[in-house]
Amino acid sequence: MNPHSLPFFLVSLSLTVLSYANNLQRGQEVYSQICVTCHGPNLDGGIGPSLVDAYWKHGDTSEAIMRSISKGIVGTEMIAYEYVYSEEDRQAVTDFILDKQEGNRQTLRSFYARDYFKGKRFSPELFDSVESISQEILPENFLYTKRMFDGVLRGQSKLFIKQAGKYRFNVGGGGRTSIWVNGEEMHYTNDQEKKNTHFNKDFHLEKGVYDLEVLHEEPTSFSMRFYARLQRIEGGTWMLTGKSLEGNTPKIVRPGTEAKVVRKWIEGLPPRTLLVLLPNQVMVAYDIASGQVLKAWKSALVNQTPSLDSRSQNESVAKGQEISGAQQTVLQGKEFSLKSYESAGDSLFISTLVDGVQKRIKVSPDGSDSFSISVQ
Ligand code: HEC
Repeated sequence: MNPHSLPFFLVSLSLTVLSYANNLQRGQEVYSQICVTCHGPNLDGGIGPSLVDAYWKHGDTSEAIMRSISKGIVGTEMIAYEYVYSEEDRQAVTDFILDKQEGNRQTLRSFYARDYFKGKRFSPELFDSVESISQEILPENFLYTKRMFDGVLRGQSKLFIKQAGKYRFNVGGGGRTSIWVNGEEMHYTNDQEKKNTHFNKDFHLEKGVYDLEVLHEEPTSFSMRFYARLQRIEGGTWMLTGKSLEGNTPKIVRPGTEAKVVRKWIEGLPPRTLLVLLPNQVMVAYDIASGQVLKAWKSALVNQTPSLDSRSQNESVAKGQEISGAQQTVLQGKEFSLKSYESAGDSLFISTLVDGVQKRIKVSPDGSDSFSISVQ
């Protein structure tokens, strides 16, 4: 490099870094002005979906996220923000969202016929010279196939790393698998070949975005038994394979015109708590094992996690404003056993055996932001 150009080079480099940081800061400002009310303080969802999990209904590329924000999603609460924020601000909040991603994103899955690959060592270049049978961008970022799939799979995605450290892949289930990060093969197994040809590297990753390729073929075509995950050696794993999330998008349970019960695991509450969601948006957490109201919220809803491996590890979340002083003992006794619960209009009846005696309690809305509970 010409020595005279060096100072200029250094200045321009630090300017780029600085403006990107400014951009993220602006993105955060925009996010906390308005997006936070629906997508949550940690971007993990509320009225709107999580923006940090692996599922992206409308696409997770920079362009797709920018489009969701600019044009909105017709018929939903997600309005078109191109009338609210400048293009710069929308790009800043897009960058801010992208900066929060972790694991597999922007997954493109391609299938190929087997014949071409017979006896050939897998590599990304090998796939570049053959036509695929099908190609699909997966909204869920997990590699999967249909049952009875008969072919070869290529999964290409962006790997978002937030924490620098040592990583490795965990792969199992048979067949042959080759995994590449930024053009370097990190994992190779082939159950038709001797074990000494297999390898599984430990490798270092900095915070950043990497190209990931998973190339896989199984001897049996019945279904994919194969699994692959990325492991951070100091802690944390990201599934790369899984079930399709199709028809399994997260559900938000809101109050209806009748009282209803939500049975979901909520952090900090015993697993057998009944969550009674009343039509006035008040939710009461009643512990059937102790006869007590543990908590209550107004303006409540439950953000349910779908029953999908990588998501169901996350508990569902009760959202709303906690009502203070809601905790109370409704029934006293030693042994509780739930008999039934039943909704009747805006109230809910719960029948319990307490020390062998049948009790019935009624939970009802009280005004616009409270509830009443009584033993019948
Ligand atoms: C009034 C509530 C609300 C606000 C405010 C809101 N959103 Fe949304 N957003 C939604 C809902 C609901 C959806 C899901 C729409 C659907 O697909 O059914 C959504 C979807 C999205 C998606 C697409 C997610 C996917 O899975 O593809 C992005 C990206 C997004 N919002 C970003 C933002 C940003 C950035 C802001 C702030 C500028 C914002 N939203 C403000 C409710 C909101």
